[in-house]
Amino acid sequence: MIDKRYLLDSSQMAEFVARGFLRFDDLVPDDINQAVMREIDRGAINGAPAGTPLSLCYQGTAIRRMLDLPQIQGLIHSLVGEDPLFDHDAIHVREPKQGKAQGLHADSIIDCRTHFDIQIMYFPHDVPLEMGGTLLLPGSHFRRVNEADVAAYQNMRGQIAMVCKAGAVLVLHHGIWHCGRQNQTDRRRYMFKLRLNPAVRQLRLWNTDDLDEGYGAPKEIHAGLDRDGSVQDILSRREPWFEEASGRLEIVNRIKLWRFLTGDDSFDVHYWLSRLENMPA
Ligand SMILES: [Fe+2]
Repeated sequence: MIDKRYLLDSSQMAEFVARGFLRFDDLVPDDINQAVMREIDRGAINGAPAGTPLSLCYQGTAIRRMLDLPQIQGLIHSLVGEDPLFDHDAIHVREPKQGKAQGLHADSIIDCRTHFDIQIMYFPHDVPLEMGGTLLLPGSHFRRVNEADVAAYQNMRGQIAMVCKAGAVLVLHHGIWHCGRQNQTDRRRYMFKLRLNPAVRQLRLWNTDDLDEGYGAPKEIHAGLDRDGSVQDILSRREPWFEEASGRLEIVNRIKLWRFLTGDDSFDVHYWLSRLENMPA
Protein backbone atom coordinates (compact mmCIF):
# COMPACT_ATOMS: atom_id res chain seq x y z
CA MET A 1 0.00 0.00 0.00
CA ILE A 2 1.51 3.29 -1.07
CA ASP A 3 2.04 6.12 1.39
CA LYS A 4 -0.50 8.82 0.48
CA ARG A 5 2.03 11.62 0.67
CA TYR A 6 3.75 10.30 -2.45
CA LEU A 7 0.61 10.40 -4.54
CA LEU A 8 -0.08 13.39 -6.77
CA ASP A 9 -2.52 15.97 -5.43
CA SER A 10 -5.49 17.42 -7.31
CA SER A 11 -3.55 20.46 -8.48
CA GLN A 12 -0.90 18.25 -10.06
CA MET A 13 -3.58 16.07 -11.65
CA ALA A 14 -5.32 19.16 -13.05
CA GLU A 15 -1.97 20.33 -14.38
CA PHE A 16 -1.54 16.98 -16.14
CA VAL A 17 -5.07 17.21 -17.58
CA ALA A 18 -4.51 20.78 -18.77
CA ARG A 19 -0.97 20.50 -20.14
CA GLY A 20 -0.55 16.78 -20.83
CA PHE A 21 2.63 16.39 -18.79
CA LEU A 22 4.30 16.79 -15.44
CA ARG A 23 7.98 17.49 -14.87
CA PHE A 24 10.04 16.42 -11.85
CA ASP A 25 13.58 17.71 -11.55
CA ASP A 26 16.25 16.14 -9.31
CA LEU A 27 14.01 13.17 -8.64
CA VAL A 28 16.30 10.19 -9.23
CA PRO A 29 19.44 10.09 -7.03
CA ASP A 30 22.83 10.10 -8.66
CA ASP A 31 23.85 6.56 -7.69
CA ILE A 32 20.86 5.22 -9.62
CA ASN A 33 21.55 7.56 -12.58
CA GLN A 34 25.12 6.30 -12.79
CA ALA A 35 24.07 2.67 -12.45
CA VAL A 36 21.52 3.15 -15.24
CA MET A 37 24.21 4.68 -17.48
CA ARG A 38 26.36 1.58 -16.90
CA GLU A 39 23.38 -0.64 -17.76
CA ILE A 40 22.86 1.33 -20.97
CA ASP A 41 26.53 0.84 -21.88
CA ARG A 42 26.23 -2.91 -21.25
CA GLY A 43 22.96 -3.18 -23.15
CA ALA A 44 21.49 -4.60 -19.95
CA ILE A 45 18.10 -2.86 -19.98
CA ASN A 46 15.52 -5.29 -21.24
CA GLY A 47 11.80 -4.76 -21.05
CA ALA A 48 9.18 -7.50 -21.13
CA PRO A 49 6.44 -8.75 -23.42
CA ALA A 50 3.73 -6.11 -23.89
CA GLY A 51 1.02 -6.53 -21.29
CA THR A 52 3.33 -7.75 -18.49
CA PRO A 53 2.53 -6.21 -15.08
CA LEU A 54 5.16 -3.56 -14.38
CA SER A 55 5.91 -5.10 -10.98
CA LEU A 56 7.42 -8.10 -12.79
CA CYS A 57 9.68 -6.05 -15.07
CA TYR A 58 13.36 -5.09 -14.76
CA GLN A 59 14.07 -7.30 -11.72
CA GLY A 60 17.50 -6.73 -10.22
CA THR A 61 18.34 -3.67 -12.32
CA ALA A 62 18.91 0.01 -11.62
CA ILE A 63 15.81 0.76 -13.73
CA ARG A 64 13.85 -1.26 -11.15
CA ARG A 65 15.40 0.84 -8.37
CA MET A 66 14.34 3.98 -10.24
CA LEU A 67 10.79 2.65 -10.65
CA ASP A 68 10.64 1.65 -6.99
CA LEU A 69 11.38 5.17 -5.75
CA PRO A 70 8.30 6.18 -3.76
CA GLN A 71 7.86 9.37 -5.83
CA ILE A 72 7.86 7.36 -9.07
CA GLN A 73 5.50 4.77 -7.60
CA GLY A 74 3.28 7.66 -6.48
CA LEU A 75 3.00 9.30 -9.86
CA ILE A 76 2.45 5.95 -11.60
CA HIS A 77 -0.24 5.00 -9.08
CA SER A 78 -1.94 8.40 -9.43
CA LEU A 79 -2.13 8.32 -13.23
CA VAL A 80 -2.48 4.66 -14.28
CA GLY A 81 -2.92 2.71 -11.05
CA GLU A 82 -0.71 0.73 -8.71
CA ASP A 83 0.51 -1.97 -11.09
CA PRO A 84 0.02 -0.88 -14.71
CA LEU A 85 1.01 -2.94 -17.72
CA PHE A 86 4.32 -2.63 -19.50
CA ASP A 87 3.67 -1.56 -23.10
CA HIS A 88 7.15 -0.92 -24.48
CA ASP A 89 10.35 0.84 -23.61
CA ALA A 90 13.25 2.34 -25.52
CA ILE A 91 16.64 3.85 -24.95
CA HIS A 92 16.41 6.87 -27.21
CA VAL A 93 19.80 7.95 -28.50
CA ARG A 94 20.81 11.18 -30.19
CA GLU A 95 24.20 10.83 -31.79
CA PRO A 96 26.86 13.59 -31.42
CA LYS A 97 26.81 16.47 -33.91
CA GLN A 98 23.70 15.10 -35.48
CA GLY A 99 22.72 16.91 -38.66
CA LYS A 100 19.04 17.35 -37.86
CA ALA A 101 16.37 17.12 -35.21
CA GLN A 102 13.51 14.65 -35.11
CA GLY A 103 10.28 16.05 -36.53
CA LEU A 104 7.45 17.03 -34.20
CA HIS A 105 5.03 14.11 -33.81
CA ALA A 106 2.53 12.34 -31.60
CA ASP A 107 3.01 8.66 -30.89
CA SER A 108 -0.52 7.34 -31.03
CA ILE A 109 -3.06 8.42 -33.60
CA ILE A 110 -4.78 5.03 -33.27
CA ASP A 111 -5.55 5.71 -29.63
CA CYS A 112 -8.51 8.04 -29.12
CA ARG A 113 -9.70 6.73 -25.76
CA THR A 114 -10.45 9.00 -22.83
CA HIS A 115 -8.50 6.39 -20.88
CA PHE A 116 -4.87 7.24 -21.40
CA ASP A 117 -1.45 5.65 -21.28
CA ILE A 118 1.51 7.47 -19.84
CA GLN A 119 5.01 7.72 -21.15
CA ILE A 120 7.73 8.16 -18.57
CA MET A 121 10.84 9.87 -19.89
CA TYR A 122 13.84 9.58 -17.63
CA PHE A 123 17.04 11.55 -18.19
CA PRO A 124 19.94 9.73 -16.46
CA HIS A 125 22.58 12.34 -17.35
CA ASP A 126 22.69 16.14 -17.58
CA VAL A 127 21.08 17.55 -20.71
CA PRO A 128 22.35 21.07 -21.46
CA LEU A 129 20.58 23.14 -24.12
CA GLU A 130 23.18 22.37 -26.79
CA MET A 131 22.61 18.65 -26.26
CA GLY A 132 19.05 19.05 -27.44
CA GLY A 133 16.72 17.34 -24.99
CA THR A 134 13.18 16.24 -25.71
CA LEU A 135 10.95 19.04 -26.94
CA LEU A 136 7.24 19.03 -26.17
CA LEU A 137 4.24 21.24 -26.78
CA PRO A 138 2.23 21.69 -23.58
CA GLY A 139 -1.51 21.20 -23.99
CA SER A 140 -1.27 19.46 -27.38
CA HIS A 141 -2.45 16.04 -26.13
CA PHE A 142 -6.08 16.56 -27.19
CA ARG A 143 -5.08 17.38 -30.78
CA ARG A 144 -4.86 13.83 -32.06
CA VAL A 145 -2.66 14.01 -35.11
CA ASN A 146 -1.34 11.29 -37.34
CA GLU A 147 2.17 10.71 -36.05
CA ALA A 148 4.52 13.00 -38.01
CA ASP A 149 1.83 14.97 -39.86
CA VAL A 150 2.86 17.95 -37.72
CA ALA A 151 6.57 17.54 -38.46
CA ALA A 152 6.55 20.60 -40.68
CA TYR A 153 5.73 22.79 -37.68
CA GLN A 154 8.83 24.45 -36.28
CA ASN A 155 9.12 26.40 -33.06
CA MET A 156 5.53 26.36 -31.86
CA ARG A 157 4.70 29.11 -29.39
CA GLY A 158 4.97 27.79 -25.85
CA GLN A 159 7.07 24.73 -26.66
CA ILE A 160 9.37 23.45 -23.93
CA ALA A 161 12.86 22.12 -24.53
CA MET A 162 13.88 19.67 -21.84
CA VAL A 163 17.07 21.09 -20.40
CA CYS A 164 17.76 19.33 -17.14
CA LYS A 165 20.16 17.84 -14.66
CA ALA A 166 20.62 14.08 -14.36
CA GLY A 167 17.71 12.44 -12.59
CA ALA A 168 14.89 14.46 -14.14
CA VAL A 169 11.67 12.72 -15.11
CA LEU A 170 8.86 13.73 -17.43
CA VAL A 171 5.54 11.95 -17.43
CA LEU A 172 3.46 12.49 -20.56
CA HIS A 173 -0.06 11.82 -21.75
CA HIS A 174 0.26 9.54 -24.79
CA GLY A 175 -1.20 12.15 -27.15
CA ILE A 176 1.30 14.96 -26.57
CA TRP A 177 3.28 16.38 -29.46
CA HIS A 178 7.02 15.98 -28.96
CA CYS A 179 10.35 15.32 -30.66
CA GLY A 180 14.02 14.74 -29.94
CA ARG A 181 16.04 17.91 -30.50
CA GLN A 182 19.33 18.05 -32.34
CA ASN A 183 22.41 17.09 -30.30
CA GLN A 184 25.16 19.60 -31.09
CA THR A 185 27.69 18.28 -28.59
CA ASP A 186 30.33 15.62 -29.17
CA ARG A 187 28.69 13.26 -26.65
CA ARG A 188 25.82 10.84 -27.17
CA ARG A 189 22.56 11.73 -25.48
CA TYR A 190 20.36 9.08 -23.88
CA MET A 191 16.81 9.12 -22.65
CA PHE A 192 14.93 6.14 -21.26
CA LYS A 193 11.27 5.98 -22.29
CA LEU A 194 8.67 3.66 -20.81
CA ARG A 195 5.05 3.44 -21.91
CA LEU A 196 2.51 2.10 -19.42
CA ASN A 197 -1.13 1.05 -19.86
CA PRO A 198 -3.61 1.36 -16.97
CA ALA A 199 -4.87 -1.94 -15.57
CA VAL A 200 -7.63 -0.33 -13.50
CA ARG A 201 -10.26 2.31 -14.18
CA GLN A 202 -8.56 5.71 -13.90
CA LEU A 203 -10.91 7.04 -11.24
CA ARG A 204 -9.64 9.10 -8.27
CA LEU A 205 -6.36 7.23 -8.08
CA TRP A 206 -4.43 10.21 -6.68
CA ASN A 207 -4.62 11.81 -3.23
CA THR A 208 -8.08 13.36 -3.47
CA ASP A 209 -8.14 14.85 0.04
CA ASP A 210 -7.97 18.35 -1.42
CA LEU A 211 -10.66 17.59 -4.03
CA ASP A 212 -13.40 17.65 -1.45
CA GLU A 213 -12.07 20.84 0.04
CA GLY A 214 -13.36 22.75 -2.96
CA TYR A 215 -10.69 22.34 -5.59
CA GLY A 216 -12.96 20.20 -7.73
CA ALA A 217 -16.26 21.69 -6.67
CA PRO A 218 -19.39 21.12 -8.73
CA LYS A 219 -20.50 23.86 -11.05
CA GLU A 220 -23.15 25.40 -8.83
CA ILE A 221 -20.50 26.72 -6.49
CA HIS A 222 -17.50 26.92 -8.78
CA ALA A 223 -17.96 30.63 -9.42
CA GLY A 224 -16.26 31.40 -6.15
CA LEU A 225 -13.47 28.92 -6.64
CA ASP A 226 -11.47 30.51 -9.39
CA ARG A 227 -8.71 31.30 -6.97
CA ASP A 228 -5.13 30.73 -8.06
CA GLY A 229 -4.18 27.08 -8.02
CA SER A 230 -7.72 25.72 -7.98
CA VAL A 231 -8.73 23.09 -10.52
CA GLN A 232 -10.96 25.72 -12.14
CA ASP A 233 -8.02 28.06 -12.47
CA ILE A 234 -5.59 25.42 -13.77
CA LEU A 235 -8.05 24.08 -16.36
CA SER A 236 -8.74 27.63 -17.59
CA ARG A 237 -5.12 28.56 -18.27
CA ARG A 238 -4.18 29.26 -21.86
CA GLU A 239 -1.12 27.99 -23.67
CA PRO A 240 0.65 30.53 -25.92
CA TRP A 241 -0.33 28.60 -29.08
CA PHE A 242 -4.07 28.69 -28.34
CA GLU A 243 -6.24 30.60 -30.77
CA GLU A 244 -6.91 34.23 -29.93
CA ALA A 245 -10.49 33.76 -28.76
CA SER A 246 -10.00 31.49 -25.78
CA GLY A 247 -8.70 28.00 -26.36
CA ARG A 248 -12.26 26.80 -25.88
CA LEU A 249 -11.71 23.46 -27.63
CA GLU A 250 -8.87 22.62 -25.25
CA ILE A 251 -10.88 23.71 -22.20
CA VAL A 252 -13.88 21.57 -23.18
CA ASN A 253 -11.60 18.57 -23.67
CA ARG A 254 -9.96 19.22 -20.30
CA ILE A 255 -13.39 19.28 -18.61
CA LYS A 256 -14.31 15.95 -20.21
CA LEU A 257 -11.09 14.36 -18.98
CA TRP A 258 -11.51 15.83 -15.49
CA ARG A 259 -15.06 14.46 -15.31
CA PHE A 260 -13.74 11.05 -16.39
CA LEU A 261 -11.04 11.09 -13.71
CA THR A 262 -13.24 12.33 -10.87
CA GLY A 263 -16.53 10.63 -11.80
CA ASP A 264 -18.21 14.01 -11.31
CA ASP A 265 -20.42 14.50 -14.36
CA SER A 266 -21.56 17.92 -13.16
CA PHE A 267 -18.08 19.40 -13.15
CA ASP A 268 -17.61 22.38 -15.41
CA VAL A 269 -15.34 25.36 -15.98
CA HIS A 270 -17.30 28.53 -16.57
CA TYR A 271 -20.28 26.74 -18.12
CA TRP A 272 -18.26 25.69 -21.17
CA LEU A 273 -19.47 22.09 -21.32
CA SER A 274 -22.89 22.57 -19.68
CA ARG A 275 -23.76 24.94 -22.52
CA LEU A 276 -23.11 22.21 -25.08
CA GLU A 277 -25.19 19.75 -23.10
CA ASN A 278 -28.27 21.99 -23.07
CA MET A 279 -30.59 20.19 -25.48
CA PRO A 280 -34.18 20.92 -24.44
CA ALA A 281 -36.60 18.34 -25.85
FE1 LIG B 1 7.86 9.87 -29.98
